[in-house]
Amino acid sequence: MIKLKTSIPGPRSARILEGLKRKNGGWGVPHPLVFSGKGRGAYCQDIDGNVFLDFASQITSNPLGYNHPEMLGVVKKYGKKFPVKYAGQDFSVKEHLEMIESLLDISPGKDFNAAFLVNSGAEAVENAIKICMRSRRKTKFGISMQGAFHGRTVGALSLHHSNPIHRKGYMLLPNFGLPFDDTAGEKLENIIKSKGVDKVGFVILECFQGEGGYNIASKKMVKDLRKITSKHEIPLICDEVQSGVGRTGKWWAFEYFDVKPEIFTSAKALQVGAVVSSKKMFPNEVGAISSTWGGGHVLDLALGMKTLEVIKKDKLLASNRKNGEYCLKSLQNIDGITSQRGLGLMLAFDLPSARVRDNVVIECAKNGLLVLSCGEKSIRVIPPYVIEKKEIDEGLEIIEKAVKVCAEKGFRHKGKVCDFMECA
Ligand SMILES: Cc1ncc(COP(=O)(O)O)c(C=O)c1O
Repeated sequence: MIKLKTSIPGPRSARILEGLKRKNGGWGVPHPLVFSGKGRGAYCQDIDGNVFLDFASQITSNPLGYNHPEMLGVVKKYGKKFPVKYAGQDFSVKEHLEMIESLLDISPGKDFNAAFLVNSGAEAVENAIKICMRSRRKTKFGISMQGAFHGRTVGALSLHHSNPIHRKGYMLLPNFGLPFDDTAGEKLENIIKSKGVDKVGFVILECFQGEGGYNIASKKMVKDLRKITSKHEIPLICDEVQSGVGRTGKWWAFEYFDVKPEIFTSAKALQVGAVVSSKKMFPNEVGAISSTWGGGHVLDLALGMKTLEVIKKDKLLASNRKNGEYCLKSLQNIDGITSQRGLGLMLAFDLPSARVRDNVVIECAKNGLLVLSCGEKSIRVIPPYVIEKKEIDEGLEIIEKAVKVCAEKGFRHKGKVCDFMECA
């Protein structure tokens, strides 16, 4: 149960947040709490002793919730050995192979027979586009979708067509954007015809867009893109950094569309970054791609593998689908929400304006519920996979009240929270 002992943020959290506001070069208005490491399942505790319900799952990076006993078991096992941070591409540990094999095991089809481990989602995307460029030497540009988000490194950033602030002032790689709708195929054909097929390095797609607004692709769009890229032998990359590892109720969101890309990326819930493809897609020259900490810390690899094991053992794909359906239905009954959508436990709803949306995010936090915004005026509902029905109800009740309060004319937040988060 949510339990708030102080107003939000509590005094201890506020002190740390004030320091971060002054000293963190990438200050980005974090949620008004500082995590203590305590918590259980979908509940987490801050350093002021407040217990929050988490509908944000560390931006989908925390599928099993807080202090999952099996994850604690992994930490205990590895803690005893005090592992160093292995330079994984040059110095191997068995977990590198085990993680690659675990990933291939949940990748559909025999063509996915090799993976490359990295540290983050952006790095996974970066390497996915690099291997395409390497195999298509005449590449002049990449193709991505309107609303796309693929990470903050310059290559990945070049593929963005979502929030303009992400790209502003940066020197980028050449890229064309396709509409995220049923006209995408036709537009792709036009680009191929006018620019020449050899110049197209790849098409990259989130079948379920994340930061861009939790937009689910149409079947026609995905099938058209697959058909055209196959016809012209252009590699198709599916970015599964946010949607992958079971969140949607299938291991990978592209599986809902009955297509297979040549390459897909994973990170977040996997605890490490990964590019999955066929061995023949990867460059065969040694050193063409690499990374000091490929695969992150050995503990990250072990936690990632345990995550996959628990998802299988506890049948969490099926429970994500079931809980997702329940949550989607419940969202339909909340007044003030203008639309809702989702697959499994990857859900979002819209509010009448960005102003109301931003205020609802703050209002929820003040009442002990963590949610994240996305797109123009949407809020994500992405609880850990271990969430229970009554916990979904508890969170939705707070959302319902927050939507009502924030829709009132002239609504403004008050208190310490305003030192960190501005009323929209
Ligand atoms: C679809 C997608 N790709 C790539 C990234 C980048 O991942 P990271 O922040 O780990 O670099 C994100 C992050 O939100 C994402 O949602």
